[in-house]
Amino acid sequence: MTNSFLVSSVKAREILDSRGNPTVEVELTLQSGAIGTALVPSGASTGAHEAVELRDQDKNRFHGKGVRLATNYVNSEISEQIIGLDSRDQVALDRLLMDIDGSPNKSRLGANAILGVSLANAWAVANHKRIPLYQYLNPQVDYLMPVPMCNVLNGGAHAENSTDFQEFMIVPTGAGSFTEGIRWVAEIYQILKTTLTERKLTTTVGDEGGFAPQLPSNEAAMELLMESIEKSGKKPGDDVCIALDPAATEFFIADSEEYLLSRENRRLTGTDLIDLWSKWCDTYPIVSIEDGLAEDDWNSWVNLTSRLGRNVQLVGDDLFVTDKNRLKTGIELGAANSILIKPNQIGTLSETLEAVQLAQENNFSTIISHRSGETEDVTISHLAVATKSGQIKTGAPARGERTAKYNELIRIEDRLGSAATYPGANSFRSSRK
Ligand code: PGA
Ligand code: ZN
Repeated sequence: MTNSFLVSSVKAREILDSRGNPTVEVELTLQSGAIGTALVPSGASTGAHEAVELRDQDKNRFHGKGVRLATNYVNSEISEQIIGLDSRDQVALDRLLMDIDGSPNKSRLGANAILGVSLANAWAVANHKRIPLYQYLNPQVDYLMPVPMCNVLNGGAHAENSTDFQEFMIVPTGAGSFTEGIRWVAEIYQILKTTLTERKLTTTVGDEGGFAPQLPSNEAAMELLMESIEKSGKKPGDDVCIALDPAATEFFIADSEEYLLSRENRRLTGTDLIDLWSKWCDTYPIVSIEDGLAEDDWNSWVNLTSRLGRNVQLVGDDLFVTDKNRLKTGIELGAANSILIKPNQIGTLSETLEAVQLAQENNFSTIISHRSGETEDVTISHLAVATKSGQIKTGAPARGERTAKYNELIRIEDRLGSAATYPGANSFRSSRK
């Protein structure tokens, strides 16, 4: 019996990501001839609890970063076992991939191999049905567009010699649509560039397309953002807010349990750092702080959440790693009130969607996110719409791998017309609504 939805072949190859490092691309074909393609991203400030990205460690190729082991696993073991499977049963496919891998953290076949197959499968079904991926994942009449959180100043592990804190983002909460929000952000980005040039703050761009100037302090970045928002004619707090991802695990010293701000030559305890966030929230229109504390500093997370959690979105990225078990701990303890969703942290589409569901059932907001190492893949744009997350984080409004995601959302919003709603400030807890 022929069934056009059966997987007929799967093929992986090694391609390049936006940092020029190798990554996995998977093409999965159904009996109908429909093809799904997925390109896997890669982090730099990865959490210790993430699923394992398999790298060859062969120093003769790509400085050890090759992914031929992962692509070979797709083309051999995985291919042998999934050909003939019904692609519409995503959960069964993902479970099978985990069973073939057999390890608790996808370390044998690699989360990069597994995620590529998982996402390519979903795309193949959507392509066969000739509908957008978001519609296949969640058939609805009306859809919620995400508010973009755009990283315009890069520091930490994403830029050399810049701020200790990794990401300073602008969030167009007062825009009337996603498309208008992106325009505001792009305008502010250009103003920021001019301001940096005028001040002779020569700058490179960081991995996510934001500028990476050498600033005297971390707070100087906040002042630059405020000034650029105002110069664009927008009102900070009403039109455009600020979101931060300090990625605090990166500057946490485990031995002394301190946070080291090298830029300012300061060492802070968890409580000091919470005081700093609290002060910044009083001074600036901050709607969201991600990884404001380190990935295993649960006690401080609970304190931060009880202090700021009513009005500020407190996002666990390295803290939760898109893992529903770590998220459960956070829900039980009252640590954070939001989760960053990165499919490659957990390794399959089904587990990604399970984490979203658990968060939403428990009144945690969800933010669909890129990685610092990206590709032209636009799956996360569709995931943001399908999950009604109301928020997406995918870098500066510049560089092809970042604009690919924003441009796909512009297309989706245009095609949806009046069936698309832009939530603006309603996506956030802030009292500034
Ligand atoms: P990463 O950074 O992709 O390098 O982990 C992104 C983030 O921390 O959100
Ligand atoms: Zn982060």
